Amino acid sequence: MADKVLEGAGACVFDAYGTLFDLIGPVARRTANVGDKSTALSELWRRKQLEYSWLRSLMGEYADFWTITGDSLDYAMDALEIDDLVLRSDLMQLYLSIPTYDEVPEVLKTLKDGGLKTGVLSNGAPIMLTSAINYSQITPLLDVVFSVEDVQVFKPDARVYQMAVDRLKLEPQDIAFFSSNAWDAAGAASFGFRVVWVNRLGAPRERLPGEPVAEVRSLADVPALFGL
Ligand code: LAC
Repeated sequence: MADKVLEGAGACVFDAYGTLFDLIGPVARRTANVGDKSTALSELWRRKQLEYSWLRSLMGEYADFWTITGDSLDYAMDALEIDDLVLRSDLMQLYLSIPTYDEVPEVLKTLKDGGLKTGVLSNGAPIMLTSAINYSQITPLLDVVFSVEDVQVFKPDARVYQMAVDRLKLEPQDIAFFSSNAWDAAGAASFGFRVVWVNRLGAPRERLPGEPVAEVRSLADVPALFGL
């Protein structure tokens, strides 16, 4: 494992979807009845969800992430000619009751026991984040939850990352930020956070400004980066 590249940082801030919360497995299980369209639906939904967040930010037309998640699901179902209101509702409900990746509770506990503040910084609407956090019973392991709702623009706009700086009262380089989304890792690193890219899927690196200080395959590798 690399050096203790996060030593000295005062807070650990995590992206939500794909980083703390596992959507891929649960979406695959819920879409099993659409057969070979399952993977395409999952991928197109996520891609459109992100595209809509970036496009609405550029257009200055903010709508909360619940709306965007529904709009992108409607687009994906339409594109794949899936007409199933029960499935739609089931997939939307998933965002309110998503499980974390297995290692998450123990890692958060280790970090907190090590004297670090822990938090979430996400595109998710407050109700989506609160609900998922409660569902997965990690509420006591998180000190703060930041939603883009407060700045009405999505990642990777610098105003989103600045929210954590202002509220935690730490310099950007004293905030360790973790994301499985390579573009979010790039955005946060370009902003000035100390970023760890949680490359769960072995994706190629983005050709974007902003270099993570480390790349790991799972959050289980994070405590060692602090020397914990
Ligand atoms: C989030 C998305 C980017 O939680 O995963 O902000």
